[in-house]
Amino acid sequence: MTHQNLSSNPKQKIQNIESPKGRVAVLTPGMGAVATTLFAGVEAIKRRLAKPIGSYTQMGTIRLGKRTENRSKLVKELVPLAELDQLVFGGWDIFPENSWEAASKAQVLDKELLTAIKEPLSKITPMSAVFDNSYIKNIRGPNVKNYKNKREAAELLQADIRNFMKENSCDRAVMVWCASTEIYNPIKKVHSSLAEFEKGLLNNDPDISPSQIYTYAALKERVPFINGSPNICVEIPAIHELAREMRTPICGSDYKTGQTLMKTIVAPGLRNRLLGVAGWYSTNILGNRDGEVLDDPGSFRSKEVSKKGVLEDILSAEAYPELYKDLCHIVKINYYPPRGDNKEGWDNIDIFGWLGAPMQIKINFLCRDSILAAPVALDLALFMDLAKRADLYGIQEWPSFYFKAPLTAPGIKAENDLSIQLLKLENTLRFFSKEELINHLGMVHYGVDEEELQ
Ligand SMILES: NC(=O)c1ccc[n+]([C@@H]2O[C@H](COP(=O)([O-])OP(=O)(O)OC[C@H]3O[C@@H](n4cnc5c(N)ncnc54)[C@H](O)[C@@H]3O)[C@@H](O)[C@H]2O)c1
Repeated sequence: MTHQNLSSNPKQKIQNIESPKGRVAVLTPGMGAVATTLFAGVEAIKRRLAKPIGSYTQMGTIRLGKRTENRSKLVKELVPLAELDQLVFGGWDIFPENSWEAASKAQVLDKELLTAIKEPLSKITPMSAVFDNSYIKNIRGPNVKNYKNKREAAELLQADIRNFMKENSCDRAVMVWCASTEIYNPIKKVHSSLAEFEKGLLNNDPDISPSQIYTYAALKERVPFINGSPNICVEIPAIHELAREMRTPICGSDYKTGQTLMKTIVAPGLRNRLLGVAGWYSTNILGNRDGEVLDDPGSFRSKEVSKKGVLEDILSAEAYPELYKDLCHIVKINYYPPRGDNKEGWDNIDIFGWLGAPMQIKINFLCRDSILAAPVALDLALFMDLAKRADLYGIQEWPSFYFKAPLTAPGIKAENDLSIQLLKLENTLRFFSKEELINHLGMVHYGVDEEELQ
């Protein structure tokens, strides 16, 4: 939550969020492996063909009050989230295949399950995309928009959002970025303010990427935006300004799945026990379209930045120079088509303990990338719809649990430790529902009355 959200007396609104009525459009730029695994999963869960494993909003429980109260609730019973039945999926892609065809091609889910949900998935066809080959080199497709400048591109996307909501009788929408990783595009002058950015849209500034145009279009329509990739879009000051102006929430970046999820589970444990880390070598083989896009050095650079920051932040050389100042951290991704979506990640971790004695840890994770990403995308869509209904706007830090490179208010250091991120998420949900925040102090068990400590 940003500080300015709280200072304008929104407590009333945040703590009295009404139950959601009507339908929510979940719009995904990109209808590839992650998006179609999300759509297919929700359709299968609605038909009771599968369980929402991995989704905190659907399966998570949260402890409430003191431990002595023995009280807990399902997350979805604590806060008024939209029901899965209220979600309507749509999106954009440069390839014209419908979601059933795209899901079949992605080969994430088994054929039997896909056959059972062919009807609803076949109806989700992609709108034409705003695409620029100079930002994504390794793919080309025919389903793209023509426009004279980037301002018109944004207007076409805004019209798509409005038409989709009208045709599908939706009351609200959220946009969840599920398209490919663009080349690394650091913040420049054109991103520095909304005025500069809007000038750049008109002048077709080459430093404005498609993901930034989608973000701009979503916010202009007051649609919350979630960045599931390492693209620089919700990070730019122009977008922060627009999100505040349109009172609309944004969050990102890059879903925390696979190898990075493992890193944020293991690394805090090593640091908390004051074990040194000399080196962390991570490599992956991946054969889906995401892997093909990341085979381009420009797109890989974006991924490398979001993947590497996590470890350097958790294993802080500043706080613990004797333990981490010489940390050698290497990350590689190799495109290996036979593997499809079944990524394999290897981590070799060289650690040292008492008196400097060296030890090693090896992690071999045979993960299913989109299986890990789909519940994350679902939770984020539901939480950002909740945030919008609570009138929260601008940068949302409380969903950092889901991201490799959590977006924070300018000047604030991100928290990358998964368990602290969960604590933050849980306390935010407790706050929404007027429940006591839990600090795990628990002094009453040592004979001290906590009220006397207030
Ligand atoms: N799979 C994971 O676990 C995971 C984890 C973290 C982040 N991500 C990120 O999520 C994104 C999607 O991953 P995926 O595995 O679904 O990839 P994918 O290649 O299967 O799907 C991406 C789709 O986006 C489309 N696309 C590219 N540019 C577009 C544009 N400008 N407008 C509309 N569509 C566009 C492509 O045609 C493709 O169909 C990637 O950025 C990836 O890095 C994935």
